Amino acid sequence: MPSLSIHAGGLDLANPVLLAAGILGTTGASLCRAARAGAGGVVTKSVGSTPREGHPGPCIVAVQGGLLNAMGLPNPSYRHFQEEIDAGRRSGVPVIASIFGSSPAEFAQIARALQADAFELNLSCPHAEKYGSELGRYPDMVESVTGAVKAAADVPVWVKLTPNTADILELGLAAQRAGASAVVAINTLKAMAIDIETGYPILGNRFGGLSGPAIKPVAVRSVYDLASQLEIPVIGVGGISSWEDAVEMIMAGAKAVQVGTALQEGYGIFEKIALGLQNYLERKSMTLEDLCGLAWRMQH
Ligand code: SIN
Repeated sequence: MPSLSIHAGGLDLANPVLLAAGILGTTGASLCRAARAGAGGVVTKSVGSTPREGHPGPCIVAVQGGLLNAMGLPNPSYRHFQEEIDAGRRSGVPVIASIFGSSPAEFAQIARALQADAFELNLSCPHAEKYGSELGRYPDMVESVTGAVKAAADVPVWVKLTPNTADILELGLAAQRAGASAVVAINTLKAMAIDIETGYPILGNRFGGLSGPAIKPVAVRSVYDLASQLEIPVIGVGGISSWEDAVEMIMAGAKAVQVGTALQEGYGIFEKIALGLQNYLERKSMTLEDLCGLAWRMQH
């Protein structure tokens, strides 16, 4: 069978199907469970410098084509998270700690304190005041935050980018200039839903971030734009729920993919995607390297 193991973004991964940052990465036990189920690496829920309860409920609602969430970055703060990362690392797969802050110094403070195999900088949450895309939509800020974390940590730094921008490539170039080991594209699309009986916005925060199959074409286009121009690898995320989706994302130029919303169907999704990808490569007599960025080389 073709090998699925890769070196991407400064990490050795047994396969390119990773757990995306989100609610399943809040505990060491759930990180281990994803690893045991076949994830090649796991990304934690985003942690910040102080405990946060998150936005008032409802925080999540199913909409056509996916989920709309406004969790509001709930977390116990990095001071209470090292043991979860350590437990996750005992599973044997790389643990990538997702972190957020409101300034380069705050990001750096967290990165200095936590031990993980890599950091993923959340510069893209679309619904938390002073955090996420409020910083990450400015290339200069992406560059400053990435540079500050690079100086504070001696592990690879991945930068998760927002699609809520006119030009995601500018953000990717800024991350690359500052020494990022990879960019991750994309976080959720800013969105909302309204209850037509009452007129109330459904989410407690009024608006949130859309994930799931509805955003996959946006993610594929973003990965394509980034991967065809950047020298650092791109990790693709957004609406991947099958091996076919993973193949498409890798053809767009992703070195690895992350799975989030599709975990609604259970942890078995990691193995299902990895096996399907491996069978596809065998059937086509291709390697992962042959597949990566294939779409750039195709001319109509
Ligand atoms: C959240 O916890 O609020 C979601 C994180 C994100 O969208 O980046």
